[in-house]
Parts: sequence; structure tokens; C-alpha cells
Amino acid sequence: MAVSRRPVRAGNENQLGIKKVALIGAGKLGEGLLSGLLQSRMIPASHVEVTVAHAERAEALAEKYGVKAHTSNARAVAGADLVILALKPQQVKGFLREVRSKLRRDALLISAAASVTTSLIERQLGHPARVIRAMPNTPCLIRQGMTSLARGQHATPEDVDLARQIFSSMGRAVVVDEKHMDAITGLSASGPAYVYMIIESLAEGGVKMGLPRELSTELSAQTLLGAAALVLETGEHPAKLKDIVTTPAGCTIDGLLELEEGGLRVTLIKAVVRAAQRAKQLVEGQNS
Ligand SMILES: NC(=O)c1ccc[n+]([C@@H]2O[C@H](COP(=O)([O-])OP(=O)(O)OC[C@H]3O[C@@H](n4cnc5c(N)ncnc54)[C@H](OP(=O)(O)O)[C@@H]3O)[C@@H](O)[C@H]2O)c1
Repeated sequence: MAVSRRPVRAGNENQLGIKKVALIGAGKLGEGLLSGLLQSRMIPASHVEVTVAHAERAEALAEKYGVKAHTSNARAVAGADLVILALKPQQVKGFLREVRSKLRRDALLISAAASVTTSLIERQLGHPARVIRAMPNTPCLIRQGMTSLARGQHATPEDVDLARQIFSSMGRAVVVDEKHMDAITGLSASGPAYVYMIIESLAEGGVKMGLPRELSTELSAQTLLGAAALVLETGEHPAKLKDIVTTPAGCTIDGLLELEEGGLRVTLIKAVVRAAQRAKQLVEGQNS
């Protein structure tokens, strides 16, 4: 991801007992997972092998994270007991065909590709592979992610526990039924983009009212962070927390009126629905 961060090099910890992790695809999401995983210190960098499409990108990743990085998927999966897949959905079938004969039959495969079902992966591999589908989001980069996990038919409860341990180290992780994965993609995987737009827009409001942009952005982002934390920590319904802010005849109710008139709720609901519908199509590479 093109955001600044400190280089991360893990120590010698290997809390999960995994000997080799192959991370296939280290783009916007994959690099976030790599960074989150190493920061968690659950798996040392020396146990991680990363692949990308471009050799120069591989060199940059190796330098930055101290992992082995190259462009050969077959080499990366050879001997790996855990394979994490962060390729574009339409590339997954080709990857599976490419590595089928090299992949250990007892390897655990965690796929973060939107739209790609565990049964598709199992069919492509042609053996009872242990597959877990994960839907993380980019805040995994700073260990504030939200990941949903679904178990394929041959993955064991221990595999789910392992995946949960890995993704919990990068934020929150929940186990769900796979039928919910497209909806989850439209909500928590695409969601950071919606939230950035909201942060940006609130900040614009502050700028419009004369606040310096930097201050306005900080106020806006921390307001979202704090409000979200209050929902999670208190377990209260968001409507109740909203009512606490809204003094009768005060200023918040005027702001809320504007949001209702502008259709904020309907717009956000429709955004999730549209993105979830699109998520169903990605694996086939459909453009419309
Ligand atoms: N972005 C998100 O917020 C997000 C959230 C949840 C799930 N996902 C899922 O994560 C997956 C990746 O999305 P992304 O946004 O990270 O895409 P991306 O930025 O385009 O990353 C794709 C990565 O795959 C690499 N790659 C391409 N062909 C390859 C090959 N044949 N072998 C090995 N590596 C190859 C690319 O290498 P180069 O860097 O050298 O080009 C790049 O690092 C998608 O399936 C998406 O549905 C993404």
C-alpha cells in the first residue's frame, strides 16, 4: 500500500509452529497482510516467502521486510505448510493450475480473494485440500483490521483456530458462514473506502467553516475512530449513542436533518448492496 510506515523486521518468534508461509500476491492487501503478520511477531520473516508479478517489486519487498521475495509461485508454495493467497480474483484459477502439482497435499490454503469460493479452490486443486476463505481489510496493515473467515469442507476446526489467531493478530477476526462472504466484501472489505470519503467530507465541512485542513482532518478521523470504538466497547445500539449527542433544540439535530435530507442512510445502504452484488462477479472477470 502506498502509505508511509516503518520497516518491520520480526524477531525469531514462531508462535504458530509454521515452517514456511507462502504469501502469493503482495499488492495493496497482500502487503498489508505481510506487514501485519510480521508486526504481530507470530511468524518470523525468515519463514515467509512472497511472490509478486514484477521482479523489481519483489526486490523492494525483500529489502523492506527481510523476507524472501520473487516471482515464482511454484518455488514459493513448494514445501509451504501455509499458503496465503492475495491475488486478483480472476487470477486464482490460473495460479491453482500452475501450482497444483507443487503444493503439499496437507498445506493449509487461506484465500483472501473476493468472490472466489472455497469449493472452487477445492475443485481446481482436485484433492481434499484444507481451504479457508478470509475477507480482511486494509487496516490490517496497522493491526486494526476486520477479517471474516469461512471454513471450506476439508479444513478442520484447528485450521479455523489458526486462521483466527493469525488474523486476530492484525485486528478483529470473526468466523462466518461462507454464504455471507459477498455481503461482507461489500461492507467491511470495501468499507474503508466509504469511510475515507466520509472523513474527507467532514473535514471539508470544517474547512468550509474556516478550520485549517490538517486540524479539520484530524478532528474528523478521530471523531470516527472514537465513535466506532464507543459502539464496539459499549455494545450499545448506534441509534442510542446518537441520541446521547443530540440535545433537544441543539445544533446536532440540525446537522442530522441535513444528513437525512441528503439521503445519507439510503446512500450507504445502497453502496454496500452494489459492492456486494459486484463481489459475486469478480471471479469470472466480468466488467459489467
Ligand atoms: N484491496 C483491498 O482492500 C482488499 C480487501 C479484501 C480483499 N481483497 C482481495 O485481495 C486480492 C488482491 O487485491 P489487491 O487490491 O491487493 O490487488 P493488487 O494491489 O493489484 O495486488 C495484486 C498483487 O498480485 C501480484 N501478482 C499479479 N500476478 C501475479 C502472479 N501471477 N503471481 C504472483 N503475484 C502476482 C501483483 O504483483 P505486482 O505488485 O508485482 O504487480 C500484486 O502484488 C483481491 O482478490 C481482492 O479481492 C482486497
